[in-house]
Amino acid sequence: MFDLKIEGATVIDGTGAEGGRADVGVSDDLIAAVGDLSREPAGSTLRAAGRVVAPGFIDMHSHSDWRLWENRRAESKIRQGVTTEVVGNCGFSPAPVSAEFLDDLRGFALYVPDGMDFGWRSVGEYLRAFDADGTALNVVQLVGHGTLRIATMGFARRAPDGKELARMQRLMGDAMEDGAWGLSTGLIYAPGSYAATEEIVEIARVAGRHRGFYASHIRGEGATLLDAVTEAIRVGREGDLPVQVSHIKAAGRPNWGKVAQALALVDAARAEGLDVMADVYPYTASSTTLRTLLPDWALEGGVDAMMKRLADPEVRGRIRRELEAPVTGQSLLDRIGWENIMIAYCARRKDAEGKRLSELGAARGMDPLEAALELIVDEAGKAYMILFQLDEADLRRALVHPMVMIGSDGSSLAPYGALGAGKPHPRSYGTFPRVLGEYAREQRVLGLPEAVHKMTGLPARRLGLRDRGIVRVGAKADLVVFDGKRVADQATYEEPHRYPVGVEHVLVNGRLVIKDGEHTGSLPGKLLTPP
Ligand code: CU
Ligand code: ZN
Repeated sequence: MFDLKIEGATVIDGTGAEGGRADVGVSDDLIAAVGDLSREPAGSTLRAAGRVVAPGFIDMHSHSDWRLWENRRAESKIRQGVTTEVVGNCGFSPAPVSAEFLDDLRGFALYVPDGMDFGWRSVGEYLRAFDADGTALNVVQLVGHGTLRIATMGFARRAPDGKELARMQRLMGDAMEDGAWGLSTGLIYAPGSYAATEEIVEIARVAGRHRGFYASHIRGEGATLLDAVTEAIRVGREGDLPVQVSHIKAAGRPNWGKVAQALALVDAARAEGLDVMADVYPYTASSTTLRTLLPDWALEGGVDAMMKRLADPEVRGRIRRELEAPVTGQSLLDRIGWENIMIAYCARRKDAEGKRLSELGAARGMDPLEAALELIVDEAGKAYMILFQLDEADLRRALVHPMVMIGSDGSSLAPYGALGAGKPHPRSYGTFPRVLGEYAREQRVLGLPEAVHKMTGLPARRLGLRDRGIVRVGAKADLVVFDGKRVADQATYEEPHRYPVGVEHVLVNGRLVIKDGEHTGSLPGKLLTPP
């Protein structure tokens, strides 16, 4: 007798193979049987004729570690069918923390939810504190290089000395022993951007020794894209560990098309025997903090130091000159006009949300750069923007590449309370249904089994997870039941806080979290530890 039975659906098992009709029996947290189970008794039965049952989706690139604390139900992710999130990305995780530089980390954090009290120091202490209250989905934690650097040397804009490097390596090793899965970098963000490749190799090697992997928001996604991919691959080669190129893209119109060359670099590295993969989100806009517009020296010493600098007209002049300088390949403004930058979220200046910087400047009687600087100051560096700067053809290229999987780069949000503030990038609500609906069903850019593989079996392979990302007997019962004819994202740039349609049931570790499209309130997610 099964605890639960899913009857009559087409099973797409996550391997990339075509689907076939089968029932799925679940006992406790495991898939107990797959096949004709029509005669088998079960505690409850989900009738799913005409639906697809697939492994729960693995979001390979998430920032939910900053949100799940006050969103234990993981609303915007679980409703997409996501059952595991990989967090701690882009160089930034909430641990480890040092007493000396705690304020720097907290000031740098874009969002510190209720309950996140920084009472921890090590990654182990952090994970225990996080896990105490449970979550709806499973969590895989990476350690951010920026966080390691802040804990060791704050926002110092220089190379670490021998002692400091050894300390970062020790923190990395301890984190791996505490249950982390690898190292992430954010090499366009201070203080990660202050690090030379050698420093990253030295720390990555420690993660590799513990069988971790290296996920990188690479040093440039525009004019310097190919150099940056080459650097990430070098870290894998010299640090002896697998490489995940995060949210692969070519930003700025002059760089459109370069995703093909970036993927060719991935192919060449693989031909050399290196384990290099990438992830992508299905949108042609990116999103990050507004302060990323600033040259990285502006953040030397941390957010307080940045605020002081921005109060100085001479420094503002220097920022303006650098940003308006002829093509350097580094400045965001080389690649994108002010009208293509939308303010997504800011806590204080609500009037700015949803407006383009060109509009905002006009409305405030100042030029767009002044309007941006004013907003960075008003929000103490915590405002977000959306940049409309990517190419649809590049996106399709990435989606169909066999070593590219899906990662949202978003967070678990919800359309209520603090979680529903602003106009964040719709990827937090729509990524997975958008791939299945828009790109598989409507545009036929990829087949449905292939699309499912890129959100299940392929990320499971990257993580070394043998018992998730697949529908087979003995695997963990992380499952999603969706309507292949109807599944679609609903979140837009104008109205981002909208759940998708067509995702009917979601099971995490054998428990129903979404039933008939409604959240059950169940929190069966686990903090996963590396195999
Ligand atoms: Cu990210
Ligand atoms: Zn990133």
